[in-house]
Amino acid sequence: MTYQYDTLRAVTWRADQLHLLDQRKLPQEQTVMVLENAPNVAQAIKDMVVRGAPAIGITAAYGVVLAAKAAHATAPDNWQTVIEPDMQQLAQARPTAVNLVWALERMKACFAKITGNPVPTLLEEARRIQQEDIDANHQMGDLGAALLPQGCRVLTHCNAGALATGGYGTALGVIRSAYAAGKVSQVYADETRPWLQGARLTAWELLQDNIPVTVLADSAAAALMLQKRVDWIIVGSDRITANGDVANKIGTYSLAILARQHGVKFMVVAPTSTVDMNLAEGSQIVIEQRAMEEVLTIGGQPMAANGAKAWNPSFDVTPAALVDVIVTEKGVVEQPTTERVAAMMS
Ligand code: MRU
Repeated sequence: MTYQYDTLRAVTWRADQLHLLDQRKLPQEQTVMVLENAPNVAQAIKDMVVRGAPAIGITAAYGVVLAAKAAHATAPDNWQTVIEPDMQQLAQARPTAVNLVWALERMKACFAKITGNPVPTLLEEARRIQQEDIDANHQMGDLGAALLPQGCRVLTHCNAGALATGGYGTALGVIRSAYAAGKVSQVYADETRPWLQGARLTAWELLQDNIPVTVLADSAAAALMLQKRVDWIIVGSDRITANGDVANKIGTYSLAILARQHGVKFMVVAPTSTVDMNLAEGSQIVIEQRAMEEVLTIGGQPMAANGAKAWNPSFDVTPAALVDVIVTEKGVVEQPTTERVAAMMS
């Protein structure tokens, strides 16, 4: 089946190299960074050349291909040991999105069956991880869109789109599918301070597909809901724990509280690679703290008073009790609980 509004790919493998659309430069510049070794891939993830939970998992998987190629060239009989420091570096690039270690574990599971050159087998697995992610996004797009009423007005936060995944997106996948079905009358995007994923990336990627979008300051969301101008909040996730708590971009938790206060529905869209059944609840999630400069400057220009410090947690955790529905490729979990998440995952 072909999906309308599915044109953009941020992570691609071409001619033995990893190509990343540099998300630090969007929307002003469309530049592709070409990577040929694993340490540079880990650095690109850290620096947010590529970001978004599924996209960093897919990128790390291709990073393993590059690491294996180098390790096999120098130590053909021992590449599985030589590759270990690169694997560690990739795993530590960012802490909150579980998709990163999930993808690395999947790649590692292939090692045992490889004899000879590891590159063809590992490349096939990395490509499979990306294609499965795109397929999951299509599936979630259909499942999530089916929950929305006709004429729905939606608000999204951060960028959970094609740029953040293998393609099509999670939250933006639902919005794309619902828009294609003629169900969406208005898309709002929070600008998403401090890194502006909403204003820079979500707005850009929707407009690439000719889907109209209205950007608002994060602090305007309460007034928008009070004025009854939004029906559903639709967001992605970096890690969902066994009880249905949801880590996502800082500001998501405030939206969930606002949604409950104003009778607005709250949907989380994420593939099962984002569900961490090893953690019982959200308080156990490691939240990435990022550089103060992201808050104190805009586009490299100082913005806050000279000498001020900043608190910059990159994610927050929304309790399951504030989530109306989690949409995964395996199905929909309404009012998530430990039992319901376990049933969906089994
Ligand atoms: O810091 P980022 O830009 O990597 O944060 C991304 C998010 O919080 C996304 O909402 C999440 O990864 C889901 S992406 C499908």
